[in-house]
Amino acid sequence: MTRIHPSLRTLVVLVVAGSLIAASHTRAQDKPAEGKAAALPPPYKVVDGFYVDPVTMNGFRAWRAAACDRCHGAYQQGLVGPSLLVGMKTLSKEDFIKTVTEGRLDKGMPSFKTSKMITDNFDGLYAYLKGRSNGDITQYRVRELKERELKE
Ligand code: HEC
Repeated sequence: MTRIHPSLRTLVVLVVAGSLIAASHTRAQDKPAEGKAAALPPPYKVVDGFYVDPVTMNGFRAWRAAACDRCHGAYQQGLVGPSLLVGMKTLSKEDFIKTVTEGRLDKGMPSFKTSKMITDNFDGLYAYLKGRSNGDITQYRVRELKERELKE
């Protein structure tokens, strides 16, 4: 039987205890604050005001391709249609999708249910408009985040 030197044994105990404490500490930090309602993260990622994630980028492309700006303005400021900078502050994602899908035909908002470009990109379109309305996307023309990463 091999005997472990007592001081070595103490050292082993200390190292094991130390790593256990470290592990429990990390776990505690990872846990979201309890009791506080966790705020939903924004549906987009934006850096420097206009470099966005690919989903949001496709939302912008869909916005341009479907010419939503014809009525809502290039900057979403409103023309014959209302400002979406304002409207998107209170519109739920569900109502957004319903409005764009079905339109509000009696009020002049067309239905886009036959536009695959739009129905394939609801997440991105919502994210783009939400980012604009929140003021996090600071210019209407956005670019791919990866273009910025290539520059670094
Ligand atoms: C032909 C003009 C026109 C086009 C094109 C158009 N809209 Fe609209 N849109 C309107 C009008 C007018 C309203 C206001 C309807 C109302 O009074 O409820 C509206 C309302 C909306 C609303 C609801 C705003 C709110 O505050 O409730 C959203 C969201 C919206 N449009 C998104 C879009 C998107 C996205 C596109 C492109 C896919 C688009 N619109 C294209 C005219 C248009």
